[in-house]
Amino acid sequence: MRIVLVGPPGAGKGTQAALLAEQLSIPHISTGNLFRANISEGTELGRRVESILREGGLVPDELTIAMAAERMAQEDAQGGFLLDGFPRNIGQAKALDASLAEAGQKLDAVLDLEVPEDEVVKRIAGRRMCRRDSAHVFHVEYNPPRREGVCDVCGGELYQRDDDRAETVRKRLAVYHEETEPIIDYYRAQGLVSTISALAPVPEVTRRALAVLPGLG
Ligand code: AP5
Ligand code: ZN
Repeated sequence: MRIVLVGPPGAGKGTQAALLAEQLSIPHISTGNLFRANISEGTELGRRVESILREGGLVPDELTIAMAAERMAQEDAQGGFLLDGFPRNIGQAKALDASLAEAGQKLDAVLDLEVPEDEVVKRIAGRRMCRRDSAHVFHVEYNPPRREGVCDVCGGELYQRDDDRAETVRKRLAVYHEETEPIIDYYRAQGLVSTISALAPVPEVTRRALAVLPGLG
């Protein structure tokens, strides 16, 4: 199954993607996580995008599309994938459609996570992420680690993301409304969109997601 997850920053895309990918046995592909891995490894790409992420802007399409295409071309993604944070504007959505069509493939579903803005701000303010693996995500109040500052999964150090400062969050939300929300209508015209409320505990949101995905509900 080929799924795109959309929703505002802090909606819980990464949290749900990790759980859904495991349930569906498909890789979780997060462009945000790929950029952060490049930054922490000090690659050429990481150096080019570091300040863009810190300020909450979008990385230029040519860099993002190339990085996503390279990841989707890997062996484990041939039977399907769950995209988190990509595509993020109409240009990226069209590029994805074109590359899937070239391979004789298409998307099966677009899952749109709806969360009110005040809740998103609370979720981002309390988020703590693992330095070793950004798929390990916690929240000081809603999903606290057993030991403060330590990842339950791998023992890595938990930290607050550079782009989770209040003024950067405002910028990321504005970018989401302006650039990313239009892809929901783009996919709606293809009959692919299921919108669920993500204002519920994590397992309940996973249940809602599985109930609306085609062939699973
Ligand atoms: P990215 O990493 O994709 O960030 P984002 O879209 O802003 O999303 P977040 O990671 O902030 O939130 P999330 O929805 O995954 O929520 P999470 O599960 O962590 O992108 C970062 C940057 O990279 C961008 O700003 C851009 O610069 C660049 N970039 C990435 N992709 C790009 C692209 N395609 N093109 C160009 N640039 C790109 O949850 C949030 C918190 O809430 C956590 O603490 C979690 O524990 C908690 N939580 C989750 N679910 C629940 C729940 N149900 N109840 C209570 N708490 C919950
Ligand atoms: Zn970890």
